[in-house]
Amino acid sequence: MRTLGELALRHTDLKVGDLEHLQSLVSSWRILADLSFSDLLLMAPLSGDDTERFVVLAQLRPTTGQTLYATDLVGSVVGEAERPLVAKAWRSGTLVVGDAPILGSAERVRVHCIPVRRRDHVVGILVRESTTRSTRRHGDLERIYQETFDHLARMVAEGTFPFPSYDVEPQESPRVGDGAIVLDATARIRFASPNAVSHLHRIGIHAYTPGLQLAEVGFAEEAVMTALSVKLPVTEEIERGETSILLRAIPLLGGGEPTGALILLRDVTDLRSRDRMLLSKDATIREIHHRVKNNLQTIAALLRLQRRRLRSDESRQALLESERRIRSIAIVHETLAREPGGAVRFDDIVRPLLRAVEEALTSPDRRVRFEVKGTAGEIPDGIATPLAVVLNELVQNAVDHAFPEPRDPLGGRVVVELNRTDGTLALDVSDDGIGLPEGFVLEDATGLGLTIVQALVTGELGGTIEMSGGDGTHVHVEVPVALPEPTAP
Ligand SMILES: Nc1ncnc2c1ncn2[C@@H]1O[C@H](COP(=O)(O)OP(=O)(O)OP(=O)(O)O)[C@@H](O)[C@H]1O
Ligand SMILES: [Mg+2]
Repeated sequence: MRTLGELALRHTDLKVGDLEHLQSLVSSWRILADLSFSDLLLMAPLSGDDTERFVVLAQLRPTTGQTLYATDLVGSVVGEAERPLVAKAWRSGTLVVGDAPILGSAERVRVHCIPVRRRDHVVGILVRESTTRSTRRHGDLERIYQETFDHLARMVAEGTFPFPSYDVEPQESPRVGDGAIVLDATARIRFASPNAVSHLHRIGIHAYTPGLQLAEVGFAEEAVMTALSVKLPVTEEIERGETSILLRAIPLLGGGEPTGALILLRDVTDLRSRDRMLLSKDATIREIHHRVKNNLQTIAALLRLQRRRLRSDESRQALLESERRIRSIAIVHETLAREPGGAVRFDDIVRPLLRAVEEALTSPDRRVRFEVKGTAGEIPDGIATPLAVVLNELVQNAVDHAFPEPRDPLGGRVVVELNRTDGTLALDVSDDGIGLPEGFVLEDATGLGLTIVQALVTGELGGTIEMSGGDGTHVHVEVPVALPEPTAP
């Protein structure tokens, strides 16, 4: 898909600022297509002296009417022969209207060529193409929409539409077909579309009659007044009971001064209740994590009680380790209970996990300092649990085996390093202890700890693990991490 920017850079002489103006027009021209029930094309002259030929930079079909163009015209080049009116509008800098054959066929269409002005020069031509044999019944709605289109077209030619780029249109912004009210310069209602009237009814306004002031109707006066005085669109959400209506007040300007306004209304009640449902679903998931964490802590506490009753050192040691493993999983659920969505910042798990290992180091002659470097970023919660267990085992091993007797009065040093690139997370655990035993081979290790680590890293997480001795022990783990797409609302 060629973007407007790519096409403009390749085929035209447009300057950066002019291109931005056209991009901003294209991000807000939906309202023009819908008000005019027409196809829109944005054209700019080909680069060089060739001002007779134009490239189509963007195209939009109306959602309120039928399109004339089933094909995609973006990127095609239109010559003076096919669209003499475009060249005329470009040269004269004025609005030109006439009939011409449809692009690529013999049928004739009505063509409006609107010069797109930025500051003191024309940067492109906005072409509206509509059928001459109108199939629409011409009522008030059609007439007033056309007038409003003409108004906005003059603003395009004057350089006051699109609005400055700090007007950011919300994604769920209402469209013309959702409901429209047209006001004159004194905020008197000229026209309200049937959908708009229904929305007014839903928020308890039945007194609507054309000719009334907005204030007399008791509706959205403030938003409209602000839009008129700052000459920028204003978006507002109105809530009445269960109903939510999203409103966008767009000032209509003439010679830079407000001469009326267009209000678009959309009933977003269903959207909002879905938002609330999603929110409460999220809250439920978090509550579940919270309970799982509590249950795991209870299990760990039960194991401790049992351990205290045992005589054999080996059995006590076994229960102690199980207790630690369960606590490390509890830490993951505690973090998940705090963070919304399907992802979790692994850094938030690493620190409490190290603190738990540190707190378990009770004897004063076994001092160990921990250090965390780098950052893991967000990882899917499905990966967080196995990875936390892996980290727990590796850190526990450093504490258990690397420093059999204190050499340094400050104690041993364990460094956990996290390194996140696009698709992988690297986890390094290094200590400055005695190093691995002679002839140690990871694959042959029979301890439960490293067996768990290998099973999780290479099995469940599909990653790799390397262990090396020498100056202390160094473990390098790499696992693929693909973040889930953010769930659509
Ligand atoms: N950081 C380290 N420094 C020195 N030796 C280590 C280190 N990590 C592992 N080892 C060696 O690897 C062996 C296997 O570790 P593993 O975690 O599998 O078992 P364990 O720690 O002995 O028992 P468990 O983890 O089940 O309590 C350890 O006994 C130890 O000899
Ligand atoms: Mg171990």
